[in-house]
Amino acid sequence: MDKPSRSDHARLWGLENGRIFLNHGSFGATPTAVRKEQRTWQDLMENEPVRFFEDLMPGVLEQTRVALAKQLSCQADDLALVENATSGVNTVLRSLVFEEGDEILVPDHAYQACRNTIDFVAERWGATVVTVNIPFPIDHADQAVDAIMGGVTERTRLAMIDTVTSPTGLLMPFERLVTQLEGRGVHVLLDAAHGIGMVPLCLDELGASYTTSNCHKWLCAPKGSAFLHVRKDRQADIHPLTISHGMTFPLGDTTRFRHEFDWTGTRDMSAHCALPFAIDHLATEIEGGWSAIMEHNHDLAVQGRNILCDALGLTPPCPNEMIACIATLILPENQSSGGIPLHEPDPLHVTLSEKYDIQIPVWSWPSPRGRYFRISAQLYNSEEEYRYLAWALEQEGFGPSPP
Ligand SMILES: Cc1ncc(COP(=O)(O)O)c(C=O)c1O
Repeated sequence: MDKPSRSDHARLWGLENGRIFLNHGSFGATPTAVRKEQRTWQDLMENEPVRFFEDLMPGVLEQTRVALAKQLSCQADDLALVENATSGVNTVLRSLVFEEGDEILVPDHAYQACRNTIDFVAERWGATVVTVNIPFPIDHADQAVDAIMGGVTERTRLAMIDTVTSPTGLLMPFERLVTQLEGRGVHVLLDAAHGIGMVPLCLDELGASYTTSNCHKWLCAPKGSAFLHVRKDRQADIHPLTISHGMTFPLGDTTRFRHEFDWTGTRDMSAHCALPFAIDHLATEIEGGWSAIMEHNHDLAVQGRNILCDALGLTPPCPNEMIACIATLILPENQSSGGIPLHEPDPLHVTLSEKYDIQIPVWSWPSPRGRYFRISAQLYNSEEEYRYLAWALEQEGFGPSPP
């Protein structure tokens, strides 16, 4: 089969020629114009560093928070600019104080790095980690709500839930979960690494205690641009991972939260400086802006999944309403070598990459147990690319079994 072409929108990105890049989900991919904008900020920083950091940066980052707040329907003052979702999760978990026997609730689909943070913090305080199992395949979002709410006890202090799960690509009923959990007095840490630019987020209305999201994934901003939103009544307890000048800075007419998060030592903030441009860039290029982009990517993910299921005889493991712009499929059991540790590359991933030039994640997950592969759908992808993936998987023996 001939190598497929990308969509016309691919002209906005500088992706490697000949590569079938179906993994936007892991690290995102940044359009050429946004990378140029980031370099402009880096030049400005190095042309006169003192003016940049002392005079320019506070105002520029304020504009960034305002632009983000507009996307997120929240107040700019409640946003802290952090480098990635892992830092956002760590910031919250390592700020909080737990008592022995307190419970932290987490579904088994949680991203491993964030789960590690929960385990680390729980052990330090003598808290208990309660893991709830969410079925996969899953028929209805209610099953996820029932599983998570069924894990709540009077000792539950915090629940970490996802907007969209990483290994299983499930769009969680996170709005419902936040309402129910916060209603039961459980603070929610929303891991929205796959959040902004992928699903609509209205943070003030949502009401979660803490939300962190990567802008470098689905907003297509430069790497190292993420945010942490902390609800006003929780801000006094949350401190950046790096304590700096802000701890003792005279308060003036701002908050300690702002002071502490606005300066965490000298670092390259160009990714955050380029954020307002990144938000406008794709919204201007694509008619209908971000809501049209999200809808387009969802439709393409559904279409891509259908193409793969039809060609390989697979059953979609969740309804279309439970995927956003990534979709996970379960490799047939009899083909599975199973049990490959997460830090080791699955041989199928390597074969697809080296033999067919296809980039997709393939992994074995302990719970829900299975060997999975995941597709992503971003503006630059085309249906042809999923057909090519289906063909490559058939060549590797993953086609429907002979009658
Ligand atoms: C659900 C989830 N949480 C957290 C992360 C971590 O993101 P980062 O590596 O940018 O911190 C990811 C990354 O893919 C993720 O999928």
